[in-house]
Amino acid sequence: MSSSSGTTIHRSPRLMRLHESDARAIRIELATGLLASVPSIAPKFLYDALGSRLFAAITDLSEYYPTRTEAAIFRTHRNAIAAAVGEGCTLVDLGAGNCEKAASLFDALRPTRYVAIDISADYLADALDYLQFRHPALDLLGVGMDFSTTFNLPDEANVDACVVFYPGSSIGNFTPQAAEKFLRQVRLAAKGGGLLIGVDLNKPSEILEPAYDDALGVTAAFNRNMLTVANRLLGANFEVADFRHVAFFNRVESRIEMHLEAVRDASVRWPDAAANSSQDSTQESVRVFRAGERIHTENSYKYTPDNFAALLRRAGYTRITKWTDADEWFGVFWADG
Ligand code: AVJ
Repeated sequence: MSSSSGTTIHRSPRLMRLHESDARAIRIELATGLLASVPSIAPKFLYDALGSRLFAAITDLSEYYPTRTEAAIFRTHRNAIAAAVGEGCTLVDLGAGNCEKAASLFDALRPTRYVAIDISADYLADALDYLQFRHPALDLLGVGMDFSTTFNLPDEANVDACVVFYPGSSIGNFTPQAAEKFLRQVRLAAKGGGLLIGVDLNKPSEILEPAYDDALGVTAAFNRNMLTVANRLLGANFEVADFRHVAFFNRVESRIEMHLEAVRDASVRWPDAAANSSQDSTQESVRVFRAGERIHTENSYKYTPDNFAALLRRAGYTRITKWTDADEWFGVFWADG
């Protein structure tokens, strides 16, 4: 890049990295999940740089209806949504990713400030550079943090009232009980502002299951990429080829479940997770996965419009407005009060 005189200097977005857990805590979390009687890897480990790109590719798949259905709701009800939310807010985007969803609402909502929060700080940094290029005057703040266990806005983002934007049905990763607790924290952090949230709705398995097991295998790659993440972060020796992608709708729990299923017996090793660094550990952990054994990697809960409105009320919101597509495949809710 040249810096010759006369070149326009753009504001550069500020990026804060607030990951609470250090490398050791992450190793312990991964190891604990793998050694449990029902082995699991938390869905946040889906989103390294490659995983974030694979997720973006998923949103372009014909089988994956949520992203385009939600976008159509925002397009169709743009004016009503803008009237409910009001102009000139500080927009706090939870799980901003490539920031495109929020950016598509900028014209309608005219935020004065945009705070993008995502677990993948590196991915966010690139997205914000591009966003700043297109909106040179907008006050942008990026925050790299994991809000999956507790939600607190950093002081720098803690303005009086803000609009929290939580699209894409990411709330579906929480159990309903955890979602209620999380949304209560969001409500308090917004200091009298509101919540604009997108939620995937209940529908037949024939539509749900292909959305999480597409013909091209992109979702399979997204899920299996977690094993490479575990190899990198934990120092494990997973062979990706030893595991296959499994996704199905659990109607009793009203959730899509994703798992990684061993296709043959596989023993996986990693250096003692509690050591201060993987270099100075002498101990090794091992977990044998028998053929057919599964690692649970994600839940994606589906709600009815009434169930979700009830959840928002339990979280403390008193005024709730809802927009859906004609088939009621997806819901956008504005909650405040
Ligand atoms: C980002 C959690 C909303 O549950 O649909 C997509 C993640 N997993 N395909 C979802 C996901 C597999 C997605 N969320």
